[in-house]
Amino acid sequence: MATKPKIAVFASGNGSNFQAIADAIQAGKLDAELVLAITDRPAAFVVERARRLGIESFSFVPSQYDSKQLYEEMLKEKLFEHGVEWLVLAGYMRLIGPVLLDAFENRIINIHPSVLPAFPGKDAIGQTLAAGAEKAGVTVHYVDAGMDTGSIIAQQSFPIAGRKREAVEAEIHKIEHELYPATLQRLFKHSFI
Ligand code: GRF
Repeated sequence: MATKPKIAVFASGNGSNFQAIADAIQAGKLDAELVLAITDRPAAFVVERARRLGIESFSFVPSQYDSKQLYEEMLKEKLFEHGVEWLVLAGYMRLIGPVLLDAFENRIINIHPSVLPAFPGKDAIGQTLAAGAEKAGVTVHYVDAGMDTGSIIAQQSFPIAGRKREAVEAEIHKIEHELYPATLQRLFKHSFI
């Protein structure tokens, strides 16, 4: 049996996508080993989720480092120590810098709650609604140096049709929790899409 890719999930908040990925692995739907949860917010709920699942987590406080380069060097060491091969961003609210981009070239993936290239950046759902868009959706993409600009791997959209923000958010999360593990599985099986 081929060895399973080792992944680290980066999250800054609730971590429901981290949970969905861990659940998919547990259910045998995603052949990967989730070896580390990384957060830049030590109080984030993702830390508690990791604890409950018995997955190691690592928290750091970016302001305690003199530069992004320094904390990314520290993260790189940590990731290498754990043999991590893929970085899976799930609600990680920071741009990835050159240190990690170089160390994990074409092996950093993100999920974003809009149909990119429309509405990159913060509060994509709010942006979508404020623009009066007909559709909302989700994109899984490779990470490059830009803000949600990397090559698109998978997308799914649905009509907003007068729905309130809560309903749109709920639909987006529902899609994310299916689409992210399924897309990672395809990616890991084929190395490209
Ligand atoms: C998701 O909507 C994801 O698309 C975006 O941030 C949110 C994270 O949610 N990048 P959660 O922390 O996984 O619950």
